Amino acid sequence: MKGLNLTWGLLVLLLLWTFSAVTDAAGAERGGRSQRRGGGGGGSSGGSEKRRRFHRIQHGQCSYTFILPELDGCQGGGSPPQTEQYGGPRGGTSVVQRDSPPVDGEWSAQKLQHLESTMENNTQWLHKLENFIQRSMRRDVANIQSHVVHNQTATMLEIGTNLLTHTAEQTRKLNVVEAKVLNHTSRIEIQLLENSLSTNKLEKELLLQTSEISQLRDKNSRLESKVQMLESQQRGELEDMRVEKNRLQSVVRNQMAAIEALERQLRVASSNNSALQRQQAQLMDTTGSPPRTQMWRDCADVYKAGHSVSGLYHIYMGNRTEPVYCDMETSGGGWTVFQQRFNGSVDFQRSWREYKLGFGDVSGEHWLGNEVLHLMTSQAQYSLRVELKDWEGNTAHSQYDRFTLTSERQQYRLYLRGYSGTAGRQSSLTTHGTAFSTRDQDNDNCDHCKCALMLTGGWWFDACGFSNLNGIYYTVGHNIRKLNGIKWHHFRGPSYSLRSTSMMVRPYDF
Ligand SMILES: *[C@@H]1O[C@H](CO)[C@@H](O)[C@H](O)[C@H]1NC(C)=O
Ligand SMILES: *[C@@H]1O[C@H](CO)[C@@H](O)[C@H](O)[C@H]1NC(C)=O
Ligand SMILES: *[C@@H]1O[C@H](CO)[C@@H](O)[C@H](O)[C@H]1NC(C)=O
Ligand SMILES: *[C@@H]1O[C@H](CO)[C@@H](O)[C@H](O)[C@H]1NC(C)=O
Ligand SMILES: *[C@@H]1O[C@H](CO)[C@@H](O)[C@H](O)[C@H]1NC(C)=O
Ligand SMILES: *[C@@H]1O[C@H](CO)[C@@H](O)[C@H](O)[C@H]1NC(C)=O
Repeated sequence: MKGLNLTWGLLVLLLLWTFSAVTDAAGAERGGRSQRRGGGGGGSSGGSEKRRRFHRIQHGQCSYTFILPELDGCQGGGSPPQTEQYGGPRGGTSVVQRDSPPVDGEWSAQKLQHLESTMENNTQWLHKLENFIQRSMRRDVANIQSHVVHNQTATMLEIGTNLLTHTAEQTRKLNVVEAKVLNHTSRIEIQLLENSLSTNKLEKELLLQTSEISQLRDKNSRLESKVQMLESQQRGELEDMRVEKNRLQSVVRNQMAAIEALERQLRVASSNNSALQRQQAQLMDTTGSPPRTQMWRDCADVYKAGHSVSGLYHIYMGNRTEPVYCDMETSGGGWTVFQQRFNGSVDFQRSWREYKLGFGDVSGEHWLGNEVLHLMTSQAQYSLRVELKDWEGNTAHSQYDRFTLTSERQQYRLYLRGYSGTAGRQSSLTTHGTAFSTRDQDNDNCDHCKCALMLTGGWWFDACGFSNLNGIYYTVGHNIRKLNGIKWHHFRGPSYSLRSTSMMVRPYDF
C-alpha cells in the first residue's frame, strides 16, 4: 500500500508539472502575439528562466528525469518596454528565447511541437504508469481475492462436479428406467395386440356361435311349427276319429236296437211258430198222433221224451224257445245245465244285465241266465247239483234238494236246503237267501267292500262267502294262491282255482 501511495504521489506531481509547463508555453506564445496578456498576468511565467536544473528519480528499473524551472529570474519580469516589442523575450526571460534567436512563428511552432511530443511522451508514460498501476492493483486484488475465489471456485467446481456426477447418475438411472418403461410399454403393447387378436378371435367365434344359435333357433322354430302343424293335424284327426267313433257308436246302438227289435220279432215269430206247432199238435191230437216234442220246460222233459244223450236242446220258456245244454248222464240225467266252465274260453266278468240274460256258448262255457233260471225253477220244486273237478283229476259234487231263485226285483236271491255231496261236509254256498251281485250291482253282505269287484264275476256273495265259481279262470300252475279264482272252499280251500265246474237243476221229483 505504501508503494501505491508513492506512485500516486508521483503521478500527481508529474501532472502538476506538466500542467505548469503547458501553461507556460502557451503564455509565451500568447505573449508574442498580445503583450498585454503575457506581461500583465503571468508572474510565474518561465520566460525569465536563465538556467535549467535536472532532477532524476529512480524507481525500480525505470528512471524519471524532471527538468525543474529556475525561480530567481522570474521576479523582475513584466517591464513595459519588453512587452512592447516581443513581450516574452524582452520583458520575461525564457529558456527557449535565450537558446535560440527569436524567430517569429517557425520557432514557436517547433516549440509547440516539441511540447506536444513531450506531452505525448508523458501521456504515454502516464498510460504506461496507469497500466502498470492498474496491473499491480489488479494483481493485488486478485492475490487478495484469488484464494477465496479459488476456494469458492473449487467449492463451486466441487459442487458442480458433484452435481455433474449426480446428474450423470440420475441420467443413467433415468435411462435405465426409461428403457424399462419402454420395454414394459412394448411388452404391454404386444400383450394388448395379442389380447386384441384373441379378442377378435373370440368375437369371431362368438359371432359364429351366435349365427349357429340363431340357425338352431330358426330350425327349432321351424320344427316347432311343424310339430304344431302335426299336432293340429293330429288333433283334427283325433277330432275326426272321435266324430267317427261317435258315429260308429250311434250306428252300433242303432244296430243293437235293430237286433233287439229283430230278436223281439224272432221271439214273436218263434212264439208264433210254437203257437202254430201247438195248434198243429192239437190238430194232430185231434187226428190221433201226439208228439209234444218242442214244448219241453226243461231237460228233464227232454230226457222223459226219450233223449238220453247229453247235448244241446231247445226248451220253451217265457213265451219263447231257449237253447239249453242237457246233462243226461250225471246221477241219472235230466239235468238242465246253467253254468259250465272247463277251459277259460269265456270271460265271466260280466254285468248284471249279461248275467240276467246269459252269455257264452251254450254247448261250451256259458251262463244260461238268471231270468230263465228263475222262470224255469219257478214252475216247480227243483234240486241243484254242482259238479267240480280240480287240476289233479279229482272230482267232487255238492247237491241241494231244494233250490229257489227269486225274481230280479228281489235280486235273484238264492235259497237252498238239503245239502249233500262230496265237495265238503258243509255247503260252500250260503243257503239263506243271498242276493246276486255283479260288478255293477253290489248286493253282497260286505259293508265296506264290493265282493264282485274283489273276487270278480257275478255270484251270490255273502261277505264274501266260501265260494265263487264265476271267478277268473287260472290255468294249471297258476291256480294256487288265487283269491279271485274259481273257488269252492270246502273242496280245495280258499285260494285254489278249480279246473272245471258245472251247475245244473232238475225237478226235485225227477
Ligand atoms: C520521448 O521519449 C523518447 C523515448 O522514450 C525519446 O527518445 C524522445 O527524445 C523523447 N522526446 C522528448 C521530446 O522528450
Ligand atoms: C477454503 O475452503 C476451506 C473449506 O472449504 C476452508 O477451510 C478454507 O479456510 C478456505 N480458504 C479460504 C482462503 O477461504
Ligand atoms: C425386456 O424384457 C424382457 C423380459 O423381461 C427381456 O428378455 C428383454 O431383454 C428386455 N428388453 C429390453 C430392451 O430391456
Ligand atoms: C203271429 O204274429 C203276428 C205278427 O207278426 C201276430 O199278428 C199274430 O197274432 C201272431 N200269431 C199268434 C198265434 O201269436
Ligand atoms: C207269454 O205270453 C202270454 C200270452 O201270450 C203272457 O200272458 C205271458 O205273460 C207271457 N209270458 C212271459 C214270460 O212273457
Ligand atoms: C274251449 O272249448 C270250446 C268248446 O269245446 C272250444 O271251442 C274252444 O276252442 C276251447 N277253447 C280253448 C282256449 O281251449
